[in-house]
Amino acid sequence: MAPDDRDDEACPPPAPLDWWQRGVIYQIYPRSFADSNGDGIGDLRGILTRLDYLRGAGDSLGVDAIWLSPFYRSPMVDFGYDVSDYTDVDPVFGTLAEFDELLAAAHLRDIKVIIDWVPNHTSDQHPWFLESRAGRDSPKRDWYVWRDPAPAGGPPNNWRSSFGGGADPAWTFDDATSQFYLTSFTPQQPDLNWDNPEVEAAMHDVLRFWLDRGVDGLRIDVVFKLAKDPQLRDNQPGRRHDQDWPAVHERVRRIRALVDEYEDRMIVGEVYLLDLQQLVSYVSSGDELHLAHNFVFVHLPWRASAMRESIGDFERLAGPSTWPAWFLENHDHSRVATRYAGSGGSGGRRTRVATMLVVTLKGTPFIFQGEELGLPDAEVPPDRVVDVDGRDPERAPIPWRRPSSAGPGAGFTTGEPWLPIVAGAERLCVEAQRDDPDSTLSFARRLLALRADRPALQGGSQRPLDAATDVFSFLREAGGRGERLLVALNFSSRRVRARVTLPEGLETRGTLVLSTHAAREPGPIDLRTLTLDPDEGVIVLLG
Ligand code: GLC
Ligand code: CA
Repeated sequence: MAPDDRDDEACPPPAPLDWWQRGVIYQIYPRSFADSNGDGIGDLRGILTRLDYLRGAGDSLGVDAIWLSPFYRSPMVDFGYDVSDYTDVDPVFGTLAEFDELLAAAHLRDIKVIIDWVPNHTSDQHPWFLESRAGRDSPKRDWYVWRDPAPAGGPPNNWRSSFGGGADPAWTFDDATSQFYLTSFTPQQPDLNWDNPEVEAAMHDVLRFWLDRGVDGLRIDVVFKLAKDPQLRDNQPGRRHDQDWPAVHERVRRIRALVDEYEDRMIVGEVYLLDLQQLVSYVSSGDELHLAHNFVFVHLPWRASAMRESIGDFERLAGPSTWPAWFLENHDHSRVATRYAGSGGSGGRRTRVATMLVVTLKGTPFIFQGEELGLPDAEVPPDRVVDVDGRDPERAPIPWRRPSSAGPGAGFTTGEPWLPIVAGAERLCVEAQRDDPDSTLSFARRLLALRADRPALQGGSQRPLDAATDVFSFLREAGGRGERLLVALNFSSRRVRARVTLPEGLETRGTLVLSTHAAREPGPIDLRTLTLDPDEGVIVLLG
């Protein structure tokens, strides 16, 4: 933490926060949110009809923005991350007119809309690629990364596909022209050649298309792959040549400059690099990404010390222009309730602790649809597996209603859902949780309302506190108003004395304003005697 954060009098008041700093961003995976026409697949109209759930009605969750995973035209080999037309909506999701309708309806409710931009690769059915593969002398040949086979006949180098655990080469052979093309993901997702300025210009046009339509931000898919070693040298043990190449930063800067021509827009990048220093380099200069998703955080063990250290490391590396972003669930990772299931059914309780952590840490919280319900991964029998990389379980549809009343589609669809509904939908569905004050959904609604209400949770400074081994605790303080909130999270499934040490001079008495455990009554507490239940997190207003 910067020393001057504590020194309110000497400092001018901090700059007002931007919308993407203040609020909570909710990720929607359109295929699995809500299906409006009974084909078993979620769509844009489904989202439109469920906006009350998100914001603007009495019992809304209260999110500030939505990030929509891809809805563009796509052969769906990677469920939309293989785009065949960047400027149209896939018929399975709806139409461009419906997108405009959704955007307008969201804006009416004060919901910002972030869309997913997939610039590293297209579908192999994209007209650009069809033209590129048509012949070695095609004018678009150089829009993709084509190379002759290695002298021995195999792929040009040792780069591996990100899917399949590193077993498969990142190269696909084209029989007609006898060359390989680079495919960092599936063979149906050829990598664009960002060394070619025509590619960059074409992708900038795509950005303008959506920014002109009024989207508020973009999530940039695998942004760290937008530059690779142009010499295509082999990856070495300490150095990868297939991603995070230095030229990536100037490319991101040009994207940012374009986005900055529009008012109040934001870019968040998927920087899937398991090194905080590298991650921070995409946000710290102030002219690249506004936010970067931190995957180190997603891979931590469920331990207070691991969280405390990693968050501390991030804070130390982050300069003043770095605004953090936090998430623990998305469409590519096992859900918290399953990933951190522990023993004795802690999973659901841990989702609440995780969400409390993400929403109260300094920075922008991202929550993934279903996290607010405490959903676990779905069980997907072998004959229903559809994803190329084992990610079906976390992508199961949202159960809106009790299967016993709404049928097997659980209110997600009147048809056959494209993926199985989670086990326990009867109890976990929105209908069952909405009016139950003890539910995870009710907890999430209170948590988001608290953040919206408390400047200290939005822009306040943050300092970690000493506490019991299993407890991660920190303070959020808003200079001007003197508002102080303490967060204490029990990462164990035992009852523990929190033993939080407050900084010199602070009152040990406060008011407990929220617990992850519905049974705990809000009210006055003394921190010296605070005991946390197994898998419990609390927020205490000090003073
Ligand atoms: C990102 C997306 C993932 C997709 C991949 C290839 O990692 O989050 O779902 O499969 O990029 O586009
Ligand atoms: Ca549908």
